[in-house]
Amino acid sequence: MKQSITKNIFVSSLLLTGLLAIAGCAEMTSNSKEAAVERTRQQVQMLDTLYKTAVVLITEHYVKDPSILPAASASKALFAVMKKGGWHEVRLLGLTDLLFNAENKPSDAFEQAAAEKLLAGETGHEELIEKDGKRYLRVATGIPVVMKQCIMCHTTWEGEKGNIGALSYTVPVIE
Ligand code: HEC
Repeated sequence: MKQSITKNIFVSSLLLTGLLAIAGCAEMTSNSKEAAVERTRQQVQMLDTLYKTAVVLITEHYVKDPSILPAASASKALFAVMKKGGWHEVRLLGLTDLLFNAENKPSDAFEQAAAEKLLAGETGHEELIEKDGKRYLRVATGIPVVMKQCIMCHTTWEGEKGNIGALSYTVPVIE
């Protein structure tokens, strides 16, 4: 009798240890999955600063009149190279009714939701998606009229204070 109680306690504690180990592993997996998303978020922030700073510097120093290639067009050429290289995708979006290029209209559900939020004054929009077994972070960040030179071509944006555009990123999660 005593022996069987001891055996039961032994088996139960083995089971408990096993369960705790499984729970621990599951928690570690979920923590490392979240850490991967956070790493990717940091990368998007870095890219956003890099691309936007480049546009401002190019506009400030080179785009002296409306006949010159706009920084927007140069960026789109750069985005195409990054996409072809398999690094990430970036789309330039216009959030107002009048667009220079209809291709820049928010297209899918993510971009439409982002447009709504950015126009309402929020700083960004984010979504984690899975495609062909791989995770991707989608992030949209706002573009305001950052300098008066923007108005040289986008005359309808005179006096606009909020977001008139966005950058829409789809970046593979750094697992
Ligand atoms: C030299 C003229 C010119 C200047 C200056 C200029 N843009 Fe543009 N912008 C364009 C053109 C042309 C497009 C369309 C590019 C394309 O999609 O091929 C465009 C597109 C955009 C779009 C996408 C919406 C749309 O209308 O298609 C945004 C957002 C934008 N520009 C923001 C800015 C900001 C912010 C500045 C100031 C830093 C700026 N632009 C300065 C000419 C200009």
